[in-house]
Amino acid sequence: MTIEIQLDRLMHELETLAGFSDAPAPAVTRVVFSEADLRAREWLKGLFAEAGLIIREDAVGNTFARWQGADPALEPVASGSHIDAIPQAGRYDGTVGVLGALEAIRYLQHAGLRPRRSIELVLFTSEEPTRFGIGCLGSRLLAGSLSPEKAATLRDDRGASLDEVRTAAGFRGPLDSVRLTPGSYHAFVELHIEQGPLLEQSGVPLGLVTAIAAPATLRFAIEGVGGHAGAVLMPGRRDAFLAAAELALAVEAAARGTGAMDTVATVGVCEIFPGAVNSIPSRVRMMADVRDIDLARRDGVLAAISKSAGTIAAARRVTIEREMLNCDAPAETAPLVLAELRRAAEECGLASVMMVSRAYHDTLFMARAVPAGMLFIPCAGGISHRPEEYAAPADIERGVRVLAGALARLAA
Ligand code: GLV
Ligand code: MN
Ligand code: MN
Repeated sequence: MTIEIQLDRLMHELETLAGFSDAPAPAVTRVVFSEADLRAREWLKGLFAEAGLIIREDAVGNTFARWQGADPALEPVASGSHIDAIPQAGRYDGTVGVLGALEAIRYLQHAGLRPRRSIELVLFTSEEPTRFGIGCLGSRLLAGSLSPEKAATLRDDRGASLDEVRTAAGFRGPLDSVRLTPGSYHAFVELHIEQGPLLEQSGVPLGLVTAIAAPATLRFAIEGVGGHAGAVLMPGRRDAFLAAAELALAVEAAARGTGAMDTVATVGVCEIFPGAVNSIPSRVRMMADVRDIDLARRDGVLAAISKSAGTIAAARRVTIEREMLNCDAPAETAPLVLAELRRAAEECGLASVMMVSRAYHDTLFMARAVPAGMLFIPCAGGISHRPEEYAAPADIERGVRVLAGALARLAA
């Protein structure tokens, strides 16, 4: 089968989707359930409907668009990703996997394929942790990796609960209705930009993901004593920010300390209260993201960070409260999906390479519920989560062609 997708249409749709943003181009900011996210979802549902797909939304806003197969009794094959974007992101993270899956389905329809299994496009809610502090909200609930009770306790920065926010966005019903029944899908495949430099450097156009690294997210509440920046002398200070600064360096040291290139740790949030230049910080809210493909090593880093927090709190006479927002295990992808992706790549005459994903994805959780796999395409300089993120049309085309081939094989 020669797969020729309508690349111009797809690139145009990626550009349109990037326009639903709270940041001026080229940056994209599209936080879950913001106006921009809801408008983007409406626009996408229009495209899904135009393609004749049957649309369903669950209580957390995961959206399913099904191309009915010849035998509706068989478990469908699914493909998809996310459209939410962190502040000041680019336009390809997640979106290539949503619009790419749509283009793959439209190609297969146009080619006259009548799949035995239905093919279902899934748009996951809140892959990014921006609003509720925890990533992959939709796929965690689908896989049963997050309990509906715990999800109900999640709040955004303004104190609004997930229930309030999703209801206002039009997604109602109990969260326990979101979970997939075991074996809901025959297979799940996610197409995504690599978000790292390896494919570009090696000149291989496709990455077949064998495992996804395990992320953990920590939130610290550091409480010191504020005061007048001029009047309180240095020996008497209990500055919450200086404790946070030491802790941030301890996070870095813990990750570097493993000596493994697969260990990474980042402090990406640090909010100082009251935030006045002439006021000693009394309170800090800080978040750290720690990842590794080796679970034991990642957990060793978390333990080292905890130990440092205790030492720093005692030395600086502040309190440091620690909350683990998520602490996930890595996932391996399914041999069935890898094999079909590899065959589809071969059929397209394209080379591929096995690789691990250092970023997390909805597939991390889908893999806990159904056979799941991922296909990576290169992105320029490996840059992601920045406005400069770029994937070349030719690379996107290759990814979508192989995705289409794999979906056809899996649904046959
Ligand atoms: C996903 O966006 C991640 O942070 O890996
Ligand atoms: Mn992302
Ligand atoms: Mn992503």
